Amino acid sequence: MSDFNQKLTRRQALKLFGMGAASAALAACAAPTAQPAQPAQPAQPAQPAEQPKPSGGKLEIFSWWTNGGEADGLNAMFEVYLQKNPGVEIINATVAGGAGTNAKAVLQTRLAGGQPPDSWQVHAGRETLSYVNAGQLEPLTQFFTEKGFDKVMPQFLLDQLKINGEIWTVPVNIHRSNVLWYNPKVLAEAGIEPKFPTLDSLFAALDKLKAQGKVIPIAVGGKDKFEASHTFESILLATFGVDDYIKLWDGTDAMWQDPRAAEALSTLKRLFSYSNSDRSAQGWADAMTMVLEGKAAMTIMGDWAHGLGISKGLKVNQDYGWMPAPGSDAFMWLSDSFGLAKGAPNPVQARAWLEVCGSREGQDAFNPKKGSIPARTDPDLSKYDDYLKAAIADFGSKPLVPSAAHGASTTNAYQSKFHNTLEVFSSDLDEKSALESLKEAAEANNR
Ligand code: GAL
Repeated sequence: MSDFNQKLTRRQALKLFGMGAASAALAACAAPTAQPAQPAQPAQPAQPAEQPKPSGGKLEIFSWWTNGGEADGLNAMFEVYLQKNPGVEIINATVAGGAGTNAKAVLQTRLAGGQPPDSWQVHAGRETLSYVNAGQLEPLTQFFTEKGFDKVMPQFLLDQLKINGEIWTVPVNIHRSNVLWYNPKVLAEAGIEPKFPTLDSLFAALDKLKAQGKVIPIAVGGKDKFEASHTFESILLATFGVDDYIKLWDGTDAMWQDPRAAEALSTLKRLFSYSNSDRSAQGWADAMTMVLEGKAAMTIMGDWAHGLGISKGLKVNQDYGWMPAPGSDAFMWLSDSFGLAKGAPNPVQARAWLEVCGSREGQDAFNPKKGSIPARTDPDLSKYDDYLKAAIADFGSKPLVPSAAHGASTTNAYQSKFHNTLEVFSSDLDEKSALESLKEAAEANNR
């Protein structure tokens, strides 16, 4: 199995897009990755194997993409699919609830009852292990090679996709988890420069906003049952630093015994004290909307929040700003991917879907709306806005650390305990019992 908790050195990260500098990484994205020196008799690239084309029939795609940006991106990929496969009826099986907290429960019931959708959303990395261990996915290594996807995705991502020597899903994107979104007008009016490189500088700004009493200093959700754990993983990164943050997910409670774990919980509790008190009634999209509407100054959320901004016709760096979540300049990554169900009712239609997921056309239709960067290294950069171009550069140049709240370093069993612990903490603020619960949860990351 691959090392999901892997951290890249800066040099390794720079190589992701086959380049040595962030700007060069952008250039590399605009063009195919660097070619090796030409041999006298250039080897022909493997021809994609003939694949039966669907003629009509159905295709059921299961996801939790219902919010603005998410739904727009998914629909854009459906459009590409239907252009290529006219006559197929797509069943869009979505279950609302960010991070899939609701969707995954519905999916488990269907899988247990032998009624899988053809293809479902799964995070690349350790989360995939949950489905592989249960024998619910078909291996896709051969499909991947036939389609040439292994030639157009960064080695880092390919390594994360491999479990027991096989690739099981096709990634459509890379999201960044550790982003702070802010309302520039609100901060300007409060006399705050939008620059919080450390947790201390963040709290100084929150103090000022609280004293002025005009807006909610930081919006935090909870209705989707992952917003607290999402905020917490950025605080963990700031508190532990890149190397030790990664060790938190090693399937033991060793790092949770470290005093910094308690410190991170205290920091989260302190952060809650500057937030809306109705956290459990607001979803992540509500929290971001408060920022966009100037009711709150900022929120910490993954860059699907950017997708929400795009869906509302707003402009990044004008109507809303962003910075890495305070305390770390690393890139906390996660990747949405799609697998092929074992026993898929419509395997021909499903393979054609996976082909769109991995294609340049599919990814360039999806990601500019979703607020994520492509999993491929050859996007049409003219389709990506300034935030996304910066994210592509950061992915190629910053230390990469895995998101726990979104399955890059965690199994489904672990995630559900992690989310649940932090949601309970968001309402009872009991640090001692949250820490105990996190220690107990650690071993769930082995299954
Ligand atoms: C994540 C997922 C993102 C986004 C987010 C909020 O788990 O990877 O694509 O949908 O949840 O729903």
